[in-house]
Amino acid sequence: MSRIETHIGDITRLAVDAIVNAANSSLLGGGGIDRAIHRAAGPELLAECRTLNGCGTGNAKITKGYRLPARHVIHTVGPVWKGGSAGEADLLASCYETSLRLAADNDCWSIAFPAISTGIYGYPATKAATVAVTTVTRVLDDLPDILSVTLVAFDETSHAHLQEALGRKTDAR
Ligand code: APR
Repeated sequence: MSRIETHIGDITRLAVDAIVNAANSSLLGGGGIDRAIHRAAGPELLAECRTLNGCGTGNAKITKGYRLPARHVIHTVGPVWKGGSAGEADLLASCYETSLRLAADNDCWSIAFPAISTGIYGYPATKAATVAVTTVTRVLDDLPDILSVTLVAFDETSHAHLQEALGRKTDAR
């Protein structure tokens, strides 16, 4: 039984222990999913983010979820796509790994990820889906207490990329 599943929909509605936000290095809000999460969580989220002193690309920081159904928000900063030879894949993998480890350190056993960097940051969705599935699979072997990881797509096309990447993993096992 795989602990990784996919979902199409709005991540702000998921009642999991932690949802992951595709933030920017300021952690002070932005567009896309960042805006959606801050809007749903309410102003206390930004107030807590102001105390975090930003976040480097590939790193992650955790806050409460406030008005969200999720208990926590893990804010991670994905790489901006620059063509693929500037270490983007390693930085994206680091977002998934550091977020999972931070979740486990904070007793978050169900986690939902968006397709980090595939929107405003321009990372090709198929490549990003492969990095996401490969990294989550590898890190989950190390974190047996994590019960479920949900990879959330906001549209059918993104969902198909995730399903395909998962299918390749299943075939490979
Ligand atoms: N639920 C789930 N997924 C969502 C939602 C939502 N409510 N809103 C957007 N998405 C999807 C987008 O369709 C995209 O596939 O999340 C993915 C990430 O898109 P972005 O939000 O553009 O994030 P990213 O590409 O990582 O760019 C980060 O955008 O929001 C700003 O402040 C953020 O500057 C940072 C940049």
